[in-house]
Amino acid sequence: MRGTNRVEGLWSSWFLNSDEYMGNLAADREWLSPVSRYPHSTTPTSVDTHNSDSARTSVLFVCLGNICRSPLAEGIFDHLVREAGLDDRFDIDSAGTGAWHVGERPDARAAMVATKHGVELGSRARQITSDDLDRFDYVIAMDRENLRNVSRMVDSSDSDAEVHLLREFDEEDGDEVPDPYYGGASGFETVYEMLHRSCQTLLERLKAA
Ligand code: 4NP
Repeated sequence: MRGTNRVEGLWSSWFLNSDEYMGNLAADREWLSPVSRYPHSTTPTSVDTHNSDSARTSVLFVCLGNICRSPLAEGIFDHLVREAGLDDRFDIDSAGTGAWHVGERPDARAAMVATKHGVELGSRARQITSDDLDRFDYVIAMDRENLRNVSRMVDSSDSDAEVHLLREFDEEDGDEVPDPYYGGASGFETVYEMLHRSCQTLLERLKAA
């Protein structure tokens, strides 16, 4: 995690294979304002920070393997935060819902596209844990399967974390960040552009919160 200590540990994997859709949590929560296209993200009246240090905002990016999309999102968001001189206001990390790649560095193609754009990827893959839901204000999922799995974890905990799809914040049309793992390098460039656009808007929203 960038900015705070990481609490290690594995969340039980009972939720990973179920296709049941748990719906969204927006109805009972006050949400960070996304680009208004998605029915599960109703316009908020305010944004809470949930961790104990209210001066800081913590953001966890989540994908499946934590070697392609979420480490890229983490690196891009961290880069934008540093560029804006806001590193003392944010804690940023990423995790996967799956455990297959735990301990690994980001995929070489993700690292390559990041380097091309001057973004550093310092993470190692880890699996999301129940502790994360207490520690992070915002959990930002890359696709709808990630969103379902994280929402299910939040539902079965006391967490106040806000869960969003990253592309709610993309100024261009789109829904999920597609998984580039089984494709070629050009897919990683496309994903990079989506992540960059979405992270820019996300940062603007969080700065204003
Ligand atoms: P990510 O991509 O979720 O963006 O990290 C994937 C990486 C690995 C696998 C799937 C997706 N995998 O099946 O090993």
